[in-house]
Amino acid sequence: MKSQEIAIHVNNVSKDYLIAKQSYQVLYSLEASIFQGEWITLLGKSGSGKSTLLNLLAGLDSPTSGTITLLQKDLTSLSETERTVLRRHAIGFIFQSYNLIPTLTVEENLKLPLELIGRTASASEIKKMLSEVEMDQALHKFPDQLSGGEQQRIAIARALIHDPSIIFADEPTGNLDDQTSYRVLTWMSRLIKEHGKTLIVATHSKSVTAFSDRIWHLHNGALKEELVS
Ligand SMILES: Nc1ncnc2c1ncn2[C@@H]1O[C@H](COP(=O)(O)OP(=O)(O)OP(=O)(O)O)[C@@H](O)[C@H]1O
Ligand SMILES: [Mg+2]
Repeated sequence: MKSQEIAIHVNNVSKDYLIAKQSYQVLYSLEASIFQGEWITLLGKSGSGKSTLLNLLAGLDSPTSGTITLLQKDLTSLSETERTVLRRHAIGFIFQSYNLIPTLTVEENLKLPLELIGRTASASEIKKMLSEVEMDQALHKFPDQLSGGEQQRIAIARALIHDPSIIFADEPTGNLDDQTSYRVLTWMSRLIKEHGKTLIVATHSKSVTAFSDRIWHLHNGALKEELVS
């Protein structure tokens, strides 16, 4: 059964970017709650602010005004160090551009999130995670020796290896073929349902919406929820 505990609360959040002294507003006074155990899909055309919103929710960037509460902690009042510690423990982030560390092998990339919280990854943990994303053969490869879709799957594995309770995924299947994409989404869906994780996915892909509990549309800086039957 779905818990009704709030994982993230967004209170009157706006975001402007300042470019050459000119301010551009991307998000306007957003209000939203995300419950633990939910899969939220965030849709919106390119440039609508999906990545901007995910970055704010994950504490990677700060809103211009308003507050964001994540796991009962007001992100906007935490210091940068406190936000980093919270992120390392509680959050997994699958970046639109993967952000794998090019000088580290796949194995080292996967070990890093655990090392950052003082844990050592066992060989079997790494192996199991790689096999979930069907990348068993990639252990000793460097990111530039992998295709875009393969890097994407490693980025997904890296975001999940430390067992975070909230996962942000920015276009996580953009570079995967339909079949691989379906398998990865099914696996992620199982993680959400069986382990009560919370997932927020920004995407252009309509096939992702089939897995969601709720669908949000970002348009003209505002969020609108679509009713899912
Ligand atoms: N660091 C930044 N500085 C200035 N403007 C930015 C910055 N990041 C994003 N923007 C602007 O904010 C708007 C929203 O960008 P964002 O990346 O959030 O869109 P998106 O919905 O994720 O698009 P896509 O689907 O193409 O990934 C865009 O107009 C973009 O140019
Ligand atoms: Mg984006």
